[in-house]
Amino acid sequence: SNLIRATLFPGDGIGPEIAESVRQRYAAVVLWAEGPLDKASLVEGKGKTGHILTSADSTCRTTLGIMIFKVAEVPIEWEEHYVGTEVDPRTNSFLTWESLESVRRNKVGLKGPMATPIGKGHRSLNLTLRKELNLYANVRPCYSLPGYKTRYDDVNLITIRENTEGEYSGLEHQVVRGVVESLKIITRQASLRVAEYAFHYAKTHGRERVSAIHKANIMQKTDGLFLKCCREVAEKYPEIKYEEVVIDNCCMMLVKNPALFDVLVMPNLYGDIISDLCAGLIGGLGLTPSCNIGEGGIALAEAVHGSAPDIAGKNLANPTALLLSSVSMLRHLEIHDKADRIQDAILKTIAEGKYRTGDLGGNATTTEFTNAICDHL
Ligand code: IPM
Ligand code: MN
Repeated sequence: SNLIRATLFPGDGIGPEIAESVRQRYAAVVLWAEGPLDKASLVEGKGKTGHILTSADSTCRTTLGIMIFKVAEVPIEWEEHYVGTEVDPRTNSFLTWESLESVRRNKVGLKGPMATPIGKGHRSLNLTLRKELNLYANVRPCYSLPGYKTRYDDVNLITIRENTEGEYSGLEHQVVRGVVESLKIITRQASLRVAEYAFHYAKTHGRERVSAIHKANIMQKTDGLFLKCCREVAEKYPEIKYEEVVIDNCCMMLVKNPALFDVLVMPNLYGDIISDLCAGLIGGLGLTPSCNIGEGGIALAEAVHGSAPDIAGKNLANPTALLLSSVSMLRHLEIHDKADRIQDAILKTIAEGKYRTGDLGGNATTTEFTNAICDHL
């Protein structure tokens, strides 16, 4: 078949709702022309092609993403993997060996947010994935959405976050009682790799400038090395403007005038913080997608947000961030016509304003919002 296989991790918390609309309570299925579903299992049969309908069939695991992909006739076949039931001794985490292999084999995937398992020695699954699969660059675009008003209407920036080291290395210990230490690891190899990715991205996406974000005035060795690597790479790209901005000043400038920035590249923790700040400029974490890039052309798309346990299971979550992440996955696969189609439908639905989720001031459910997107496809 000419279907492209992609891995899907629905994740935890709101993950299953935004990635998977079928749970007993609002079991949802897609009714489409030659759909895989038994129509007799539909409770409400009045929907038209492409609508989510309430279904009695709780075993149907159609995801919102899958549904939209089907309506848009995207040639993707999902391979679903669940995490968080039992520790797999081969990976020593809740991530199974098969789920990691699936991403390695398919090279593309979409993941919902994953809660960090509570208990001793369990590392965040998000981080495990990044580390295990060597997903070295986390690309987080952030642009003002047409028709959705915030204080800023000209945000259009890309945060590129080093994704494997820094304070996220997980090396923390107690030295003596009352004194703990955390190791921030910065390597030349990882810094060059992410800087190279950022400049290449700028060049191939018609961007003018790369800003390296740092605190090298204090973290002289670590951030100093990061900056040195950025400078080295900058020299190979004379057509791209290069600047260095200290992180505290960067935050102030972003809030005052985000249009000052274009592509930003930075170490891991700074990227975590700055990408949330940027999300706030355009309407919040419900809206911002991301894509983790690894060696050998691996791309694992995920939303910038977490699993939002406070609203989990209530059909309230905004699936935009995950859907736009799936769009970036399609762009990675160079399926641009479908990517445009889905992106346009999402943006149109938000701009129209009739069906918006609570985070955007509306009162639509996840399902209603998704149905509206399908109508625009
Ligand atoms: C993100 C998230 C993760 C991070 C968490 C969930 C581990 O906040 O992707 O930004 O800190 O990187
Ligand atoms: Mn974060």
